Amino acid sequence: MQQRVSHPADEADTPDLRLRVLLPNGGQFEPPAAVGYRVMELLRFSGVPIKAECGGACVCSTCHVRIPGAWRDLLPPPSDEELAKLDEIPTADESSRLACQLVMTEELDGLEVEVQPDSIILQSNCMAG
Ligand code: FES
Repeated sequence: MQQRVSHPADEADTPDLRLRVLLPNGGQFEPPAAVGYRVMELLRFSGVPIKAECGGACVCSTCHVRIPGAWRDLLPPPSDEELAKLDEIPTADESSRLACQLVMTEELDGLEVEVQPDSIILQSNCMAG
């Protein structure tokens, strides 16, 4: 799949979707989203310093997020590759996913994403939990 590079807000004909992001420091905000974008990309576009060291290839486990409650039921189940990488994260639980493996759909408008401290680049103490 070809990776997109433009910001969702620049796409005039895309639905006006939103994520609901909870940061490790308790901060929350609702960045724009659009169908077909990976959650990891949307977090980066919105300025979240997520590590995502492999760029979305599902090999680094540094885009760890938690998806609360009923939102999990709307997501496709993790692939074997994603499950294998989640197993390498000591703090992972049943709510854990890799943000690079989550692709936005219209059904996911408002998706709640809890960015995990282990996946944040510590460039200041504002993002630390
Ligand atoms: S960015 Fe590397 S596993 Fe998601």
